[in-house]
Formats: sequence, structure tokens, C-alpha cells
Amino acid sequence: MALLGVNIDHVATVRQARRTYEPDPVWAAVEAQLGGADGITFHLREDRRHINDRDAELLKPIVTCKLNMEMSIAAPIVRIAERLRPNQCTLVPERRQELTTEGGLDVVRFARRIRPVVQRLRRRGIEISAFIEPIAEQVRASADVGCDAVELWTGQYAHAAGPKALQSALNRLADAIDVGHQWGLTVHGGHGLTYDNIGPIAALPGFAEFNIGHSIVSRAVFVGIREAVRQMKALLVEADRT
Ligand code: PXP
Repeated sequence: MALLGVNIDHVATVRQARRTYEPDPVWAAVEAQLGGADGITFHLREDRRHINDRDAELLKPIVTCKLNMEMSIAAPIVRIAERLRPNQCTLVPERRQELTTEGGLDVVRFARRIRPVVQRLRRRGIEISAFIEPIAEQVRASADVGCDAVELWTGQYAHAAGPKALQSALNRLADAIDVGHQWGLTVHGGHGLTYDNIGPIAALPGFAEFNIGHSIVSRAVFVGIREAVRQMKALLVEADRT
């Protein structure tokens, strides 16, 4: 069964709307663990628009399940990751104007810049994943620069209009999973996954982990984080049985 990584960034987004101390994403991490999260994911962006350095420092000792840091390959962020030593770093593209991470990292194009970052972080005992589009060349390039895993961008699946588009997105993901496994990579998925669309993708064999943020935090506004995570976990368990 795929593991559930809960992305807590948007708890910090609400805090930053008022630049105050609440709600605290570190509390959210504790609640998510109590709800059954297998991992906690946070993105320390260069502009610190939601998660900040204080959050990252506190998450490290408090999170007892897998801690996954999403990050760009900018030098100051790489230095923070080296010091923090989360269990996993997921390399993502970052643009200041974007609402959220849009599409995947172009590992083919930026291989020469990515490879030394992967080497440095792996030397610190950190597993490295690259957030990429489900394209065979990007998967191969990720293996080639030394990644342990890839996280396939599931946006095409999440935004598919109609059953044909949905099936074509699933086929594309299944092909990319196969390529990943051929190259010895662990395969994760994430972006735009919700309580409504998680079923078919979770039933696809081969995903080791899903990272889900916006939908879980949205539901948590009404039912609390612990319960929101429990409900998403239950859907993963159910999909595994089908
Ligand atoms: N995975 C990665 C690499 C991401 O950048 C994000 C968004 O921060 C997610 C997963 C979670 O996406 P969503 O908030 O749409 O669930």
C-alpha cells in the first residue's frame, strides 16, 4: 500500500495571512502523525511564503515518521537541508510568481546543476527524490544524476476532464512507474490529489508514497487535521483492497 505523506504548508499559509503565530504548522505535524500520516512534507521556499526557518528547525526533532523537505536547488536552501538532515529531500522547481509548484523539475536540462546537489545531500545520509513530469527521459535523467526516487507530477491526472483524459493520464503514469522501477527508483506521486480523485490512482500498482497537501488541509478546517488524515489513509487502504 502507498504511504501517505501529509504536506502541511498551507497551515503556515493561513498563519502568514496575518503574520502571527497561529495556526502552527508544527502542531499540524503532530496532529497529522496522530491521524496516521506516514510522513510529513514541508516546502521551505526561497521567499518563505509559508514555512519558515523556525518551522523547519522544530519539525526535525518533533516529526518521528518520515520527514520530507521539498526544496529548490538554490545554494542557501541546500545548505539548510545539509544541516537539517531530513529523511528525504524532494527537489522541485520554484518560481516566485507561481501559486504552487507547477509541473516538474527539468532534470534533463539542468542535470549538470542537479547532480552535485544530489551528491552533497546523499553524503549527509538524505534520500533524494526529484519531482518530475511522467516522461521517460526525465525518469532516466533522475536515475542518472543519482536520485533514489522520483515523485511523479499527478497534475494531468488531477485536472483531467472526462474518463478518456483520466485514463490517458493514468496510462502515462503507469508507463513512467515502469521506467522508474527499471532504473531502480522508488516512485512517489503528488499534486492535486483529493478525497474524490485518490481512488483510481491509489489502485494503480507501483506508487510507494503520495504527498497530499491542499485537500487534506482544506478538509481539516471542518473536521480537524487528525480526522482529515485518518479519512485519506482509509481511502488508501480501501484502494489497496480493490
Ligand atoms: N508534491 C510536491 C512536490 C508539491 O510541490 C506539492 C505542492 O506543494 C504537493 C506534492 C502537494 O500538492 P497538493 O497541495 O496539490 O496536494
